[in-house]
Amino acid sequence: MRHFVSLADVSTSEFAGLLELSARVKAEPARYREGLATKTLAMIFQKPSTRTRVSFEAGTFQLGGHALYLSGRDLQLGRGETIEDTAQVLSRYVDGILARVFAQADVQALTAGTVPVINGLSNRLHPCQALADFLTLKEHKGRLDGLVLAYVGDGNNVAHSLIHAGALTGVTVRLATPENYQPDPDIVAAARQAGAHVEVLRDPEKAVADADAVYTDVWASMGQEGEHAARTSILQNYQVNEALFARAAPDAIFLHCLPAHRGEEVTDGVVDHSRSVVLDQAENRLHVQKALMLHLIAGMALPVAD
Ligand code: CP
Ligand code: NVA
Repeated sequence: MRHFVSLADVSTSEFAGLLELSARVKAEPARYREGLATKTLAMIFQKPSTRTRVSFEAGTFQLGGHALYLSGRDLQLGRGETIEDTAQVLSRYVDGILARVFAQADVQALTAGTVPVINGLSNRLHPCQALADFLTLKEHKGRLDGLVLAYVGDGNNVAHSLIHAGALTGVTVRLATPENYQPDPDIVAAARQAGAHVEVLRDPEKAVADADAVYTDVWASMGQEGEHAARTSILQNYQVNEALFARAAPDAIFLHCLPAHRGEEVTDGVVDHSRSVVLDQAENRLHVQKALMLHLIAGMALPVAD
C-alpha cells in the first residue's frame, strides 16, 4: 500500500494491520511521539472540514511532524496549474499529501507525485472515515466478522467506503436507500466479487432488523446543497429515529460520520442515545490517521493482527 485513496486497493491483512496499529497508537500515544519527526504533510481542502482537518493537523503534531493547510482556492490549482504538476512540485517539499476533493479522479491524480496520498473524502469515497468507523465497531462489539451494519439513507461516499470495509472484514453491510439513491452498482458488484455480504434494500425497517449497528449520514452532501429540498422530501422516510433504532438488536450501537443534521437524517433522541458512539468515531479519526501516516509516510510496518 503506497497510497490510501480507496479501500478497494487495500488488502484484508493491511486493513487488519491498520486497525491493530491504530489501537496501539490510541493505547500508548507517547510511544509514537517522534514517529513523524521532520516530516511535513500537505493538506489540500477543496471543501470545508472540521474533523478531518483538525484530526490530521493535531495528529501530525502529536507525532512530531508539521501539517500545512492549503485551501484549493489559495493554491495555483485554482488558476489552472494541473493536479499532476502540483503533486510533483509538492513532492519536492513534503512527505505526504492529504486531499479532500470533489472528483475521485483528482485525488487519484495526486499520485503522479512521489509521496503517499491520502483521500480525506471525495464525492465517491471516504476511506479514513470507514477505517475509524470499523475501529469503533470493533471496540464496542469486540469483533468484526459476522456483524451486521445497517446503513439507512443516501447511498453516498460514506456508504461506498463502508461497503469496501465490509468486504475486508466479514461485516455484512445492509443498506436501505430510496430508488435512484442506491450505492453505485459497480462498487456493490466489485465488493461482492471480493466476497462481501452487501444487501441493497428499499425498506429501512428490514435493513435495521436485529442489526448490530445502525449508521446514517446527511441527505445532501457537500456540493449538493442546491438539491437539499428535493433530497429531504425523497429521503424523509429514511430518518433514523427512536422507533427505527428500536428495531435493531437490543445492544445495537448508532454511528454517524458527523456533521449530523439533527431533525433530518437523525433525531436528537438517537444521536444523543446512550448507545450512540458518534463521538468515539470522531475521536478515532485521530488515532487511525496517525497509524496511517506512520505506515505510509514513516514506513512503519503494520503489525500482524491476532
Ligand atoms: N466526518 C468528517 O469527515 O467530518 P468533516 O467534514 O468535519 O471533516
Ligand atoms: N457525505 C458527507 C460526508 C461528510 C463527512 C459529505 O460528503 O458531505
